[in-house]
Amino acid sequence: MPVIEIEHLTKDYGHHRGIFDVSFNVEKGDVYGFLGPNGAGKTTTIRHIMGFSRPQQGHTLVNGRRSWDHAADIQKELGYLPGEIALPESLTGTQFIKMMAELRGITDMTYTQSLVKKFALDPSGSLKRMSLGMKRKLAIVTAFMHDPAVLVLDEPTSGLDPMMQALFIEFIKEQKAKGKTILISSHIFSEIDATCDKISIIKDGRLISSFVADDLRHQESKTYEIEFKSEVAFQRFELEVKAEPELEVLSLTPSKRQTILRIRDTDINRFISFIADYDMKFFSEIKFTLEDYFMKFYDRNTSLKEGE
Ligand SMILES: Nc1ncnc2c1ncn2[C@@H]1O[C@H](COP(=O)(O)OP(=O)(O)OP(=O)(O)O)[C@@H](O)[C@H]1O
Ligand SMILES: [Mg+2]
Repeated sequence: MPVIEIEHLTKDYGHHRGIFDVSFNVEKGDVYGFLGPNGAGKTTTIRHIMGFSRPQQGHTLVNGRRSWDHAADIQKELGYLPGEIALPESLTGTQFIKMMAELRGITDMTYTQSLVKKFALDPSGSLKRMSLGMKRKLAIVTAFMHDPAVLVLDEPTSGLDPMMQALFIEFIKEQKAKGKTILISSHIFSEIDATCDKISIIKDGRLISSFVADDLRHQESKTYEIEFKSEVAFQRFELEVKAEPELEVLSLTPSKRQTILRIRDTDINRFISFIADYDMKFFSEIKFTLEDYFMKFYDRNTSLKEGE
């Protein structure tokens, strides 16, 4: 049984806002990346998982229980880091940690103290005067102090400096190694790339792509950029490549005598022997990154069809 199940989840806020027929599962031990541009529906989906919001259609389950019907238990058990953190301003950080420990029934503070140390949190000051980054660290410590088995993180590294972001990525990896199940929404490609096993992309309230991250990392084709030494060589290439169906020409730039080609790994020998016949100025592989893939979906003009 998946730890988190989202089935046909719909919440229509009107004017095409909201989330529509969203479905995906997070299996035990997975780190699941949930990506999408601003306003795509990440927070709305996550709030349903946590039982803060009631679905109009469909449902979300956590360990087989419907979020809305078991909201109190789910909110108590899960490690939830909200996108926007609201903390009681009248308290100091230390008082807030104590309050959360009591709420959670934690008496042994050893693990909590280790988190405070790990994230270099100074909880002594009042929440009113704490910097945004310090507040986020406090939220991190209090979200994970009970060492939850399931972590739901809504843009966890926003507001953290680069050092802290790196530390947080390490923390996610440690949690994964401990067998935790983690759902993480983010805009930051590198942190998704560094941590996630599976990824879903949401846009305009609809899931447009779900995939296993490794499948994308180990693509079966590669992209090469070539510049020819002379116009004659470029023109001959332009003509002769048409008879080579396995060489996919992505672009031709006559003014620079350049071309970009995509070749399946299985056709690489054929490609090398074909191209060796031309006078080239340079030849290089264009490294494909997850970011290139994601950017396609961030483009406003990319339609649903192209995204699939
Ligand atoms: N309570 C609400 N009432 C009306 N509209 C809402 C409500 N909550 C969210 N929306 C709308 O639903 C859409 C999805 O919002 P959501 O906050 O889930 O996006 P998001 O992917 O988390 O964006 P961001 O990356 O900016 O955090 C947006 O168009 C938003 O304006
Ligand atoms: Mg959000």
